Amino acid sequence: MLSRILMISTFSLIVLACQKAPQIPDKDRDADAANRPDLPELPESTSLQSFQVNVYDPILKPYCASCHGSTFVDSDPERAHANFLRRVSFDKFSGVDQTPVVLKLKQTHNCWEGETSKCVAVMANGLNLWLLDLDAAGFKPKPPVYPNATKSVLLSSGSPATVEVDTTQYAGASAEAATLAEPFAKGTDDVDGSILSYAMGKAGTPPIAAVAQAQAAQAITFNVDVKTAGTYQVWARVKTPSAQSNGFFARINNANVLFDTPVTDVAWKWVQLTRNQNNQQQPITIQVNAPAIVPVPILFRAPGAKINFVALTQKVAEFDGEQFANQYRDIAVDLPIANSKIIATVWEKTTEEGKRSLGVKELRIESPKPVRVKTIYPLINGMFHANHGTYTLVDTIAGGSTERRQQVINTGGSNATTWIADITKDELSFAFEVLEEMP
Ligand code: HEC
Repeated sequence: MLSRILMISTFSLIVLACQKAPQIPDKDRDADAANRPDLPELPESTSLQSFQVNVYDPILKPYCASCHGSTFVDSDPERAHANFLRRVSFDKFSGVDQTPVVLKLKQTHNCWEGETSKCVAVMANGLNLWLLDLDAAGFKPKPPVYPNATKSVLLSSGSPATVEVDTTQYAGASAEAATLAEPFAKGTDDVDGSILSYAMGKAGTPPIAAVAQAQAAQAITFNVDVKTAGTYQVWARVKTPSAQSNGFFARINNANVLFDTPVTDVAWKWVQLTRNQNNQQQPITIQVNAPAIVPVPILFRAPGAKINFVALTQKVAEFDGEQFANQYRDIAVDLPIANSKIIATVWEKTTEEGKRSLGVKELRIESPKPVRVKTIYPLINGMFHANHGTYTLVDTIAGGSTERRQQVINTGGSNATTWIADITKDELSFAFEVLEEMP
């Protein structure tokens, strides 16, 4: 009880202190500096000078000194330098983006510009200039040492992988194998992941305005191999770049229906076939009484509207169409256990230069015996990135079986995640808090 009162009053003291003179109380100014990492190779005077020119004078002094004047913005630059070194941890450095100063600013901490991203960029730039000077003087920060680390492989070493679709829930067909009639024509110049062709109403064909005028003969028919009887909702992957190419008609249960699509701009998007009922969009469904090839005719409405896949699903929530469109790759990394490897099933998520990322579907272990894994660090170029923490909470057993579901490392939540990485040049390895073969 007493300690609780003490805690509360200490807390309010800090708040009060901050409000009056926003100084972070610091019992012993030297304790912080004394705890700076031991870096005998650091070119001390170069570092201090560059820190002052690039970080301390232009950023820390004007914008952070009012509250951090007793630690990393000490009025004595040497002491500030020592305190700042402690915060950037050059003895276990995982990049400017991962330093507490940049991470703190990312959490909208006292940004002096209008936008957080600008403050983050200014700070990152200052740190990078400091690092460049250190690099020129022959000093490189040391990467952290992770436990049970594997060797690295190039992300580009992955091999194409097919992921099995759950046929009790899903069925799908691509434009590749569809039957099509005029004015639809097939195109192959707009590849979407693993989907290699699409259909589009020929340019110049007059659009059809109303569903009453829809022509059953002007169809691309997707032949969907449905393996499980049930009631299916209908989704299509479309690219409809403008309000003039606003969709299709469809022939469902022997009736023509409107198939409106949003303007998808330059992206391919999954759109559900719905109808307006009592001012609400309700899914249109197809009843499948026994496993069969189910034809789904999509009818011409406007030129320029593209379609490349039709999926039927019994899943009402969380429709996953990407499993049909993604080009998955398996990247295998040998574990330090005989004949065992960890495999990441990934796809290229964003390919924009400088912003490349990989979608990760799941991780699994192929091994003769089950393997216990706890706290998995995926390392890109040897570094763990704070945003790649999905697998750090894992403590599980996987592998020891040819069945995929025994191999998959379950996180307890979603197994899918994103890694910021460039598949064209980055390397992947893993580290584990615990990695042991089970008897
Ligand atoms: C108005 C006061 C104020 C200003 C200005 C301010 N901070 Fe802070 N900062 C705090 C307080 C209070 C804490 C402790 C509570 C917390 O972590 O948010 C803190 C904590 C921190 C921490 C984590 C603790 C530590 O000492 O490492 C970092 C890093 C940090 N601030 C960076 C900055 C940077 C960089 C600037 C300048 C761009 C800045 N702060 C400006 C008040 C401020």
